[in-house]
Amino acid sequence: MNRLFQPLQLILLVVALLRPASAECNIVKRGLSGDLLLIGTVLTNQGALQDSSVFVQSGRITHVGDICGLGARGGDASVLNCTGSVISPGFINTHEHISFSTVSPFPDIGERVSHLFSGTTSIIGGGMVLGLARNLDFPEGLEDGLDNRLVIYDTFPLKDGLGVMRNGDCDYGPSSIDRDTAIGYHRYISHIGEGIDVEAANEFTCLSNVAFDTTPALGGGGLSTDIIGPNLALVQALGLTPRDFDVVAARGAKIVWSPRSNMYLYGQTLNVSYLLEAGITVALGTDWLPSGSATMGREAACAASVANEVFGMKLPPKELWKMATVNAAIVAGFEDQLGSLEVGKLADIVVFEGRSQEDGEHDIGTADPFGQAIFAPQEKIELVLRGGKPLLASSTIRDLTSGTCELIAFGNSNKIVCIADELGSSFKELEASLQGVYPVVLPDLPPDEPTCKPKLYS
Ligand SMILES: *[C@@H]1O[C@H](CO)[C@@H](O)[C@H](O)[C@H]1NC(C)=O
Ligand SMILES: *[C@@H]1O[C@H](CO)[C@@H](O)[C@H](O)[C@H]1NC(C)=O
Ligand SMILES: [Zn+2]
Repeated sequence: MNRLFQPLQLILLVVALLRPASAECNIVKRGLSGDLLLIGTVLTNQGALQDSSVFVQSGRITHVGDICGLGARGGDASVLNCTGSVISPGFINTHEHISFSTVSPFPDIGERVSHLFSGTTSIIGGGMVLGLARNLDFPEGLEDGLDNRLVIYDTFPLKDGLGVMRNGDCDYGPSSIDRDTAIGYHRYISHIGEGIDVEAANEFTCLSNVAFDTTPALGGGGLSTDIIGPNLALVQALGLTPRDFDVVAARGAKIVWSPRSNMYLYGQTLNVSYLLEAGITVALGTDWLPSGSATMGREAACAASVANEVFGMKLPPKELWKMATVNAAIVAGFEDQLGSLEVGKLADIVVFEGRSQEDGEHDIGTADPFGQAIFAPQEKIELVLRGGKPLLASSTIRDLTSGTCELIAFGNSNKIVCIADELGSSFKELEASLQGVYPVVLPDLPPDEPTCKPKLYS
């Protein structure tokens, strides 16, 4: 025995081993009012509030903080004790292309369901189905309670998606975005400067500098413009130089960061350290499945790893969590209604189980409550509320759910999934229809995940 191994350490070790593997929520009280009180560690911008609470009434948050502040309002509410778990706003995925995620007959549902079951309650995805996560780029997909407003998700603003590459001019054709149209949108989110070549850099120049190309092209268009403003979020942006990012920062434009897709396709990604120092609002997005992450948690894991390995920066779990919640809501232009647990906002809430010691090597942020949320595998999700409505709950709290629900195994734990009513088909039918593509319930590390490692050139 090691001489440093003293009896006290032995006692501490035994205590640690005897501790329950992880805390789970339980129902303390089943009330009649339909209101719900959640008790646990509440994740806020100001920090993680231990032994705190969130109160939900009619789909909205009406109290956050010390339970004593609730007064008599909690009288006939259901009470869920999630001590040891973390209570987080649902994630907002700001960059997907869901229609590319699976094959028919359900062109986009599989991907969306796995997003929902990994803590994502809103998505900007270029495609949609009714129900499940909110689709912030489709007025008809906003779901209960969200005010209608316009998020324009324009994959290729220069209409160069069919392979038009320019260098030194802006002759992308007559349908490119113009300044008046772009600045008129509530939010304009588009791929700009995707790639690491001069043609990618050229895209940003054509959209940020009116003096760059003043000669119209034959057949229309061909002029550079300047759309860089606070309503713009640039997706990808790999072709931008530090000076370009200074322009982005000065104009209050935002960045949607998809590190896994960047690393897989181009072997490099944005210098997140530079972006954050410049004061740019950065949100995470998974991009499509062929090169991106299956869940926001896997995107965050990639972000943490490239920040460290490529840029020598330790990105705190809280910073990554912000990129998936409050920053993402700002990018989407819904920050007054989504993205944080605050009075008046919609109750899009996810509860993540406390992490146990056996969670092992994937446990990047063991002790950190923000890490418990942002790196959580699907198995660790105890509750997903969209607008206060339970769409998923651990089987221990099944009495909280209503409507048509199904018992589904997520790895080693059982969940109650209540999506059949809004989907019009059962979860099991959906799962069966997705044969051959990604499973709806993913293991901790999804199979064949695109790499996030820097490319090694010999
Ligand atoms: C919640 O659970 C914790 C730990 O299991 C316990 O100490 C606490 O008293 C419980 N709170 C309520 C309101 O039941
Ligand atoms: C990334 O940006 C930081 C500034 O925050 C800078 O010091 C560093 O040199 C940059 N790294 C690379 C590889 O460009
Ligand atoms: Zn994309």
